Amino acid sequence: MNIVQTIEELRALRWADPSLTWGLVPTMGALHEGHLSLVRRARAENDRVAVSVFVNPTQFNNAADLEKYPRTLERDCELLAAEGCELVWAPTELIMYPPGYQTTIIVEAITKLLEGAHRPGHFAGVATVVAKLFNAVEPTRAYFGQKDAQQVAVIKQMVRDLDFNLEIVVCPIVREPDGLAMSSRNTRLNPAEREAALVLNRSLAAAVAEWESGRRDADHLRASMLALLEAEPLARVDYVSAADPATLQELTGPVESALLSMAVYIGDVRLIDNMLVGVE
Ligand code: PAJ
Repeated sequence: MNIVQTIEELRALRWADPSLTWGLVPTMGALHEGHLSLVRRARAENDRVAVSVFVNPTQFNNAADLEKYPRTLERDCELLAAEGCELVWAPTELIMYPPGYQTTIIVEAITKLLEGAHRPGHFAGVATVVAKLFNAVEPTRAYFGQKDAQQVAVIKQMVRDLDFNLEIVVCPIVREPDGLAMSSRNTRLNPAEREAALVLNRSLAAAVAEWESGRRDADHLRASMLALLEAEPLARVDYVSAADPATLQELTGPVESALLSMAVYIGDVRLIDNMLVGVE
């Protein structure tokens, strides 16, 4: 497995044999089974797999969150080598944003809702860095997790709008055995918070059960999630949503499908989770 920093080194390896297909898995490192599920899917579908590891400062709207973000490149590379990944690209901040850098990609309407409404500038940072990753690697396919449902929607929109020549592949959320969605931020939870964090999965699962029992009303689904979240003393709700899966607009009244999603602080750790109902 090659581990490179510069775009020149990356491109030399990427284009050594132009006939090969490449899968790219963009990450910020601190890899867990969620990330590795993307790598395995990429492994199965492409001749070569590249993983980028870059903690992108421009998508953090909170300086403390950026500072506390776990950085474990050595271990990440061991995990990736074991998955049969060919190339790890771990650029420095200076390589990605050299002095004089001045371009930002803004995806409009869908970044103003949900995560975008609560994390100003977040999706401009995500769209810009992902566009740079796509341009540097020029992958055949790029792999993203449904864990970040709005990120997937934003990137798909950008790929359509800017004519990126690649396929976006979306992979299901990987959960701990007790249901907590895997996240690099989970390592910051103390034991009591780790227990409390189960309320995200529990309230989503309860809403899905309501849906399956026939109560297909967006206001009811939101209220049912909120009631469980508010019963957990260590949880502080940032938002709870039942939104249109395509437009991400908040829904009201009877619905045929919905993206149920939430952002919840457990202590000072902000966690997100989601489930889709009525889709496929
Ligand atoms: P990061 O949070 O490291 O996540 C990298 C990819 O792993 C994302 O596509 C994310 O959705 C996916 N992922 C994380 N946890 C997952 C889980 N439990 N199950 C399935 N997939 C999961 O998302 C980012 O990095 C950044 O915004 C990035 C796209 C790299 C741009 O900087």
